[in-house]
Amino acid sequence: MALLTMTGMTKRFGNVVALDDVDFELEAGEVHALVGENGAGKSTLMKVLAGVQPPDEGATVLAGESVRFASVTEAQAHGVVMVYQELALVPSLSVAENLFLGSIPRLVDYRALYARARELLEQVELRIEPEQEVALLSIGEKQLVEIARALAREGRILVLDEPTAALSATETDRLFDIINKVKAQGVSVVYISHRLEEVFRIADRVTVLRDGRRVGTCTLAETSAEDIVRLMVGKAVRRYTRPQRQGAGELGRFQVGGGGLEPTTITLRAGEVVGLAGVIGSGRERVLPTAFGLHGTARWQGRPVRSPREAIRQGIVLVPSDRKTQGLVLALTVQENVSLATLERLQRLGFMQLAREREQALHWIERLSLRPPEPAKPVHELSGGNQQKVVIAKALATEPKVLLLDEPTRGVDVGARAELYDVIDDLSARGLGLLMSSSDTEELLGLSDHILVFRHGRVITELHPPFAYEEVVAHVTGAHQMA
Ligand SMILES: Nc1ncnc2c1ncn2[C@@H]1O[C@H](COP(=O)(O)OP(=O)(O)OP(=O)(O)O)[C@@H](O)[C@H]1O
Ligand SMILES: [Mg+2]
Repeated sequence: MALLTMTGMTKRFGNVVALDDVDFELEAGEVHALVGENGAGKSTLMKVLAGVQPPDEGATVLAGESVRFASVTEAQAHGVVMVYQELALVPSLSVAENLFLGSIPRLVDYRALYARARELLEQVELRIEPEQEVALLSIGEKQLVEIARALAREGRILVLDEPTAALSATETDRLFDIINKVKAQGVSVVYISHRLEEVFRIADRVTVLRDGRRVGTCTLAETSAEDIVRLMVGKAVRRYTRPQRQGAGELGRFQVGGGGLEPTTITLRAGEVVGLAGVIGSGRERVLPTAFGLHGTARWQGRPVRSPREAIRQGIVLVPSDRKTQGLVLALTVQENVSLATLERLQRLGFMQLAREREQALHWIERLSLRPPEPAKPVHELSGGNQQKVVIAKALATEPKVLLLDEPTRGVDVGARAELYDVIDDLSARGLGLLMSSSDTEELLGLSDHILVFRHGRVITELHPPFAYEEVVAHVTGAHQMA
């Protein structure tokens, strides 16, 4: 009998069906991988198991006992511990305090605490002092502290949600040693990853989710990477295809690097969309912020780009991935947001030229078919897709030659998505050069003139049309390298 059986798990967030009648079984002492494309429902399924979110429907049986965890603490009491994709450590506390968070008695015997912390850190082969503040650790070290913390809870089921996204190759090897060690002690591990070569290295079985449904569970010894990719992707529905544009002359060349991204040169032609693909931690997610002068080192046409201001001066502008925190001031109006990056130009003798500001906003509202077409509307009253258009308008108002699009449709619904794709195509037709980083494979296929695939901090391949969906996924997940 399986240690854990989840049946008929269903979870909705508003209109989104994150889980649709999913079954999942876990054997004692098994490493069970959970894979699927972004948004497939992997984290949600495990959050339901770990007591983070209650399911709308579904039943869980753990060691023969029917359970329904109303909280993380309750799940932990039953031996279910999860290390989250977004790390959950408290930066201002010490490593030891984080390890025992929630279980430290009021009168702390710090000597005992540190001694136990040392043991745990040794288990994960992490050579740091328990007194050290967590804020000072690298991401990889933090990840290992999280895992040590899970071990401290003496779980029967350990859930790791993309644990290696921020780990180096050596740290990954160390993690795999640890997984094998706890597995030998009878602990079951659920391993969520976008990297198939890791899945084959560490897991016994794999369950594949697609669009909130379970599409298969297989024993890895009897399965190929291609089989898994086929399950993940299903039938490739291409919703948007950008017309092929005549590539004009070379617009320029980026040289970017630093912070886990090896020195990389990217050539951009006028009217071209270059797609950047790769899982988190592949270096892909660093390219655009680096090219915009936010971190790392960047050169455009041989000239250094040391800050966003220098980037904008050279005609380069970024549409950031997180529009809420980086792109928009939600309390301000559409008009005010659009003019944020061009204040200097719109001011005269220190006064804002409101008529010109409004004129500029109206221009972009029309060009991007913003709805409702009201410059004085506060941005927080707009839909996600229309907010994203305001971010693009703000970027375009700087009159760039190069537009860096970071996850341009994250959180944008299907209708608004198609409109944004038209906007992107229109910009390319006007001779802009576009670099687009996206974790949405369909989007990359539909818009890119060619695609650079990143793995381990560098470009491992460049793909040209006609693109095959499965081929792109195979390169991104590493299935291709394994074949
Ligand atoms: N708290 C939430 N509120 C609203 N929607 C959510 C919430 N959590 C998840 N979703 C939605 O549920 C779906 C499944 O998300 P989930 O995080 O489980 O995907 P995932 O398979 O873990 O993806 P990734 O590989 O990107 O981590 C997505 O459409 C996501 O946008
Ligand atoms: Mg997830």
